[in-house]
Amino acid sequence: MTTVQETNLPGLLHRGKVRDTYDLGDGLLLMVATDRVSAFDVVLPTPIPSKGVALAALSAFWFRRTVQIIPNHLLYYPADEGLGTVSGAEWILGKSGLSEAAKDFLVKLPKPIAKRAMVVRRAQRVNVECVVRGYLAGSAWAEYQRSGTVQGIALPKGLREGDQFPQPLFTPTTKAEQGHDLPMTNQQLVQMVGRPLADELERKTVAVYQETQVYARTRGIIIADTKMEFGLVNGQLILIDELLTSDSSRFWDAGGWAPGKGQPNFDKQFVRDWLLQSGWDREPPAPALPKDVVEKTRRRYLEAYRLLTGQALHEG
Ligand SMILES: Nc1ncnc2c1ncn2[C@@H]1O[C@H](COP(=O)(O)OP(=O)(O)OP(=O)(O)O)[C@@H](O)[C@H]1O
Ligand SMILES: [Mg+2]
Repeated sequence: MTTVQETNLPGLLHRGKVRDTYDLGDGLLLMVATDRVSAFDVVLPTPIPSKGVALAALSAFWFRRTVQIIPNHLLYYPADEGLGTVSGAEWILGKSGLSEAAKDFLVKLPKPIAKRAMVVRRAQRVNVECVVRGYLAGSAWAEYQRSGTVQGIALPKGLREGDQFPQPLFTPTTKAEQGHDLPMTNQQLVQMVGRPLADELERKTVAVYQETQVYARTRGIIIADTKMEFGLVNGQLILIDELLTSDSSRFWDAGGWAPGKGQPNFDKQFVRDWLLQSGWDREPPAPALPKDVVEKTRRRYLEAYRLLTGQALHEG
C-alpha cells in the first residue's frame, strides 16, 4: 500500500483537485489520479492510501466496457502490464511524434505513479459536467423537498430519498473554475454548445448510464447518479476525464437499498457525513480526517472496485 498525495515530476501541466496532468506532446497527456480526496469542492489535507490506484483502475475498466457506445480518451494504462511490455506501450513508445524526452519520462515513471496513471488523448474539453441521475439523492433530494422538482423538472409527488426515477434524468452543470458548479437549464446548455451537441451530450450520457447501471446491478451495486465529461478531438465527441468512479458517482449497496433515508454506499458519502458532523462550514481549509475515517474510506474504494469488476485490486 502506497500513498501519492502530489506528484512532482518535471513538466506538470495542471494540478486539479485530484488529478495531476503532464503534457507528453503530440496530443497526448499523462493523467495521474493521486490519493487526494475532495469533498464539497475542497481538497482535504489528508490523502486516502491507494485511492488513486482504485480510481484509475475503475475508470480503465469502464472505458473499455463502454467504448461501443462512445469512444474515449484512454490510450494506455500502465498498471495493466508495466510500461514497455505490452502492445499499447509499444505503440505509444513507437509513436513518431512523441519526443525522446517524453518516451524517457514514460519509461521511467516511478511505480506508485504508474499504478495511478493513464496516457490519454488531449481533447478540447466541453465545459459541462454531464450529470445523470437514476435515483433521488444529494442536491436533487434537497431541491425536491423544497419545490417538488429536480433541476426545474417537475416530478411525481411523494417520492422518498433514494427512490428510483421512472427514467434517468440528465441534469448538467457548469464547470466552475473556482468554487461550486451551477445547475444548467436545457436552454443554457443549448446556448453554450448549440442544439446538436447538447442533444448528443444528453443521449450519450444517458446511454452510458443505462448500460453500466444494468451491469452494476448484476454485481450488487446501484449507480444512483454519476458525472461524465466530454471533449472533442478532430471534431469527434469522446468521453474524457474519469468514468464511473467512487469520486464521480454514488454507488449504493443494492442489497441494503431502502428508500426513505440515506443509503449504504461505497462512495465518498462516508467522508461527507464525517465532515458535516465535525461542524466544518464547508469553507477551506477542511479539517484533517481521523485515522479510522481514512481506513474506512480506503476500504470503501477498494470494495467498490472489487464488487464492480469481480477482482481484488492490486494496490501495489
Ligand atoms: N482528455 C482530456 N483532455 C483535456 N482535459 C482533460 C482530459 N481529461 C480530463 N481533463 C481535465 O483534466 C482535469 C482533471 O483533474 P481533476 O479532475 O483533478 O480537476 P478538478 O479539480 O476536478 O477540476 P475540474 O473542476 O476542472 O474537473 C479536469 O479539469 C478535466 O476536465
Ligand atoms: Mg474533476
